Amino acid sequence: MNKSIKRSAIVIMGASGDLAQRKLIPAITKMYEQGVIEKNCCVLGNGRTELSNESFRELNNITENKFAGNFHYHQGLDGLYDKVQSLGQFEQIIVFMALPPRVYGSTAEQLYNQGFKENVRLIIEKPFGTDLKTARELNKKLKQFYTEKQIYRIDHYLAKESIQNILVFRFANNIFYPVWNNGFIESIQISAFEELGVESRGDYFDKAGIIRDMIQNHLFQLLALLTMEAPVSLDPEEIRIQKMAILKALEIKECKIKQYEGYQSEPKVDENSQTETYAEMKLGINSFRWTGVPIYIRTGKAVGEKMTSIAITLKKVPRLLFNKENDLKQNKILIQIQPDSSIIIDHSTKIPGSDMEITTTDMDFCFSSSFEGHNIPDAYQKLLQDALRGDQTLFVSAEETELSWEKIEPYLDMGEPGLYRKGRVPRSDLDADWVDMSAYAGSCQS
Ligand code: BG6
Repeated sequence: MNKSIKRSAIVIMGASGDLAQRKLIPAITKMYEQGVIEKNCCVLGNGRTELSNESFRELNNITENKFAGNFHYHQGLDGLYDKVQSLGQFEQIIVFMALPPRVYGSTAEQLYNQGFKENVRLIIEKPFGTDLKTARELNKKLKQFYTEKQIYRIDHYLAKESIQNILVFRFANNIFYPVWNNGFIESIQISAFEELGVESRGDYFDKAGIIRDMIQNHLFQLLALLTMEAPVSLDPEEIRIQKMAILKALEIKECKIKQYEGYQSEPKVDENSQTETYAEMKLGINSFRWTGVPIYIRTGKAVGEKMTSIAITLKKVPRLLFNKENDLKQNKILIQIQPDSSIIIDHSTKIPGSDMEITTTDMDFCFSSSFEGHNIPDAYQKLLQDALRGDQTLFVSAEETELSWEKIEPYLDMGEPGLYRKGRVPRSDLDADWVDMSAYAGSCQS
């Protein structure tokens, strides 16, 4: 899978902004330092702000870096293509759109008209549209100029190691594959909690809400990887086909929304805002594999902790032998995505010396202790590397985006949300018996 990277120009649109400074420039600097990209690749920052090459490097704290000379800046769109040409001969140009989403389409058109045509790949940040209509319009606009193979829609959750590992866990281990269905699994729960509230992003978040911000993209993608059929190969197209099949079969049965107390007084938030900062859903997948298995997802801001996890509860064993009273704990498979990455299998064990008394014990695997010292690229580094190699596996297709919007559309802007206290996970309004993941947090702690 480690295709080498051609001689490239990386153009960052919106290069004086926050994303470029926090994520992109550090990721690219690392790629130079690690020899992932050759020193004959170059970076061209672009933005409306007037900056010299030197001040662009200063802004990004890279003046001392030995690759600093590879970072250039060009103000405004005019002459951008010629500027790239003046920096050398490149086999491909990667354009990262770190821009306000409303200008994605028009910027793509202007780039194309300047000469950014063949050998160009566009990396597009989320949000990709704000509903089905806008996502369709954007796809249509982009496709007037670029083919699907040239468009890389980011979902940074797909670049998380522990999420990629879900494929390996499921399809490289024969031990789990046979139980991955409604014959054995009772329910699936996905939780994505955030400690922080909306902070400085009130302007964006108040128009979006947590359903658009987290569920339509990250959590639906995660769910698709967790439940899809095995693709026939690791070809990105084959994986997309299987994820699409899940999205098509997905049914939202219930959705409850809430807002944290004090949200309306956050900076740049409307004082009468009805935007949801927490949402939980009960879903089903209408397929032979999953019919009858409730899938619960919940996500929220300011709920006291940062944690993303999956809890899979297996069905009860028959009321025989050790479960005559129907009180034997059910097996669970717990996948923690962050802050720690771990997989725990919760199972019954005889208490030594007892007369067949049973307790629950864990078999656990913790990424950080099993792979100590491994160099794990940050999500943006991974995504940039893949785009440079032309690998679309971790990027979302036009069809997937539209289908996700189509499914979520009836649940956008649902009216007045209930309130919850900041710093706490709100009480559930669904029939879910949520697994307390904090009880398992110890497995990765030193
Ligand atoms: C982003 C959302 O896509 O994902 C943010 O816009 C959210 O609101 C973030 O905080 C969560 O990502 P992570 O990687 O911190 O779980």
